[in-house]
Amino acid sequence: MATGVPSNNGSSKFKPVELSYSDKKSTSSILNNPVHSGFNCMRHCSSGNRLYCGDNLNGLRDLLADSSIRGKVTLVYIDPPFATKGTFLSRKQHKAYEDDLCGATYVENLRERLILIRELLFSSGSIYLHLDETMIFEMKLIMDELFGSSNYRNLIVRKKCNPKNYTRKTYGNITDFILFYSKGDQYVWNRPVEPLSERSSKEYHYTEPETGRRFMKVPVHAPGTRNGATGGSWRGKLPPPGKHWQYTPQTLDEMDARGEIFWSRNGNPRRKVYLDDHSGVGIQDIWLDFKDAHNQNIKITGYPTEKNPDLLRRIVQASSNPGDLVLDCYTGSGTTLAVANEMQRHWIGMDNSPEAISTILKRFERGLLPMGDYVKAKSSKANKAFDQQSCFDTLYDAAQVRPSQLVSSHTPITDFSIYVQKDVYTEIHSIVEKWMRRNNLSEDVERLGINIRDPIKQVGI
Ligand SMILES: C[S@@+](CC[C@H](N)C(=O)[O-])C[C@H]1O[C@@H](n2cnc3c(N)ncnc32)[C@H](O)[C@@H]1O
Repeated sequence: MATGVPSNNGSSKFKPVELSYSDKKSTSSILNNPVHSGFNCMRHCSSGNRLYCGDNLNGLRDLLADSSIRGKVTLVYIDPPFATKGTFLSRKQHKAYEDDLCGATYVENLRERLILIRELLFSSGSIYLHLDETMIFEMKLIMDELFGSSNYRNLIVRKKCNPKNYTRKTYGNITDFILFYSKGDQYVWNRPVEPLSERSSKEYHYTEPETGRRFMKVPVHAPGTRNGATGGSWRGKLPPPGKHWQYTPQTLDEMDARGEIFWSRNGNPRRKVYLDDHSGVGIQDIWLDFKDAHNQNIKITGYPTEKNPDLLRRIVQASSNPGDLVLDCYTGSGTTLAVANEMQRHWIGMDNSPEAISTILKRFERGLLPMGDYVKAKSSKANKAFDQQSCFDTLYDAAQVRPSQLVSSHTPITDFSIYVQKDVYTEIHSIVEKWMRRNNLSEDVERLGINIRDPIKQVGI
């Protein structure tokens, strides 16, 4: 693998690349748009966690106007529609959302939200934008424009599913992508690692006779020349041509005194790297372990395009700390919120789909359920035509009756505020009210003026 030596004269030649299209608004016009969000608080909770039911453009504007949130978000993960031009249905065949924006309209729609998100981020915050191949290239340019190419951290390639038997004349598509940017150069980073593989441990060939510790030998020099102490001689030796010492002669002396330098027979120094000092291998930018639900035992909500919670666990762990605020304004089934909650982060979620809100509340109440157990469900559905879809429904409907029996280990999540936009109020109100009744949140129900035994009564806001 070739490694380039950084040059010092590149910055003066750097001209940023910009994506141009008609109707691209100025940043100031987006930021200075007055707040008329139309959100009302339907349920207040002091935890700081919030669920916004409505358009995220308005929700984000609301947050910007709130000094307790603006500039305080440590982590944003968003998984917006991918411009597939499709309609997404839940496993119960309920309409979840339309993915109908494309081209420049798509880019501008997302760009507007990203501009608001940038203002919400804390100086040490980060954003992860999940997309597929359709819009990733356009959005990489937009992210560079908004966050600065120097704050680009990774393009993570995720294996999203098992190989497909493609009949098209193309290679099978089993990946999607996550763009990772930080707001600045000092950002929260808890380096994710995995244990050394058995194969890699075998590279620690040598054993220190005095201690029995296994080690490998690595060079003490690196590419590039230096003028200072690391470019000079150590123990009468200069670094090899075109290289410099990785450490100052004083540090090398200290390492040698501790027995950490291995001297070859012809007097060449090498550094000992010990197997037992290894904290694990840093995670790389190809993620193979986070496919979305792909077998019947995997637990899901049944919302379309819901992401693997382990994917979110990795991101939340790496880029936030307990007590930090995590935002997902395309929250879908609430994967980010549930994971953030489990990992002791505060969270804010937004979605404009009533199906998403209904799914999030069920997930908070009962957790996830296995994707499908054909045998069990078949016997209960007797002779009816039966597929994976109905099988899932059977389990979920059973859970509605006695959630505790099916999902005994789940602790319900109830400590969050709910904000509802006026135009989805009627639909969301009845979803939230049913959830409150099921969870015996009687104070809330009373505050909304709902008689707990009566059928749903409209409460105007
Ligand atoms: C790909 S799904 C997110 C799935 C989610 N990551 C999960 O794990 O379940 C995208 C979501 O964005 C929501 N959405 C799309 N446009 C929106 C908007 N303008 N405001 C709020 N939500 C929106 C859709 O309703 C949909 O639930």
